[in-house]
Amino acid sequence: MFLTLEGGDAAGKTTQAVALEHWLTERGRTVVRTREPGGTELGAQIRALVLHGDHVTPRAEALLYAADRAHHVATVVRPALERGDVVVQDRYLDSSVAYQGAGRVLDADEVRGLSTWATEGLLPDLTILLDVHPAVARARRGGRAAEDRLEAEEDDFHERVRAAFLALAAAAPDRFVVVDAGLDPDEVAARIRAAVEPRLSA
Ligand code: TMP
Repeated sequence: MFLTLEGGDAAGKTTQAVALEHWLTERGRTVVRTREPGGTELGAQIRALVLHGDHVTPRAEALLYAADRAHHVATVVRPALERGDVVVQDRYLDSSVAYQGAGRVLDADEVRGLSTWATEGLLPDLTILLDVHPAVARARRGGRAAEDRLEAEEDDFHERVRAAFLALAAAAPDRFVVVDAGLDPDEVAARIRAAVEPRLSA
């Protein structure tokens, strides 16, 4: 089973991925918790280039995320799924469509096509969209400076990304579950478990 968590920056994805991993492990599942970009050694280098380097042009940015994804899927995700493990992954191709497509105003279908090629068409069984208003995310960060190039973008960029995620979820209701990430984290975790549970038994 391939589960992905998506959403804007500071939506609480990592906290929820950890909680979901614990819950699944308690239920006897072997879990591989991973993330993009940076789920492999090569990916860690790509992550540093794309998030902490100098200016990267939009098309180069899209290609770097796709390169990270191609390597990650081939060396980590597919082998785990073939073993029968559950993969809990922080961000996947929907992030590229939302950030590089809507955020950077590249063509969303072309951005998706790149990732589809990179991953030989691997789609998650379930994608949890942690939906958060950019102002809430900013407040959560408090006074802390932005951690990377994308976090540092203006609210308008994050608004476009959020709208793109919601549109992706609306277009694929069988794959997506949208959870209000402004709720208490325990409540968010409970809603995520409620979405995962029936798919586990299936
Ligand atoms: P993270 O902070 O959730 O690890 O994500 C790092 C940043 O990378 C985040 O701002 C979103 C961005 N990103 C993209 O722009 N496109 C992608 O395909 C992925 C996976 C992440």
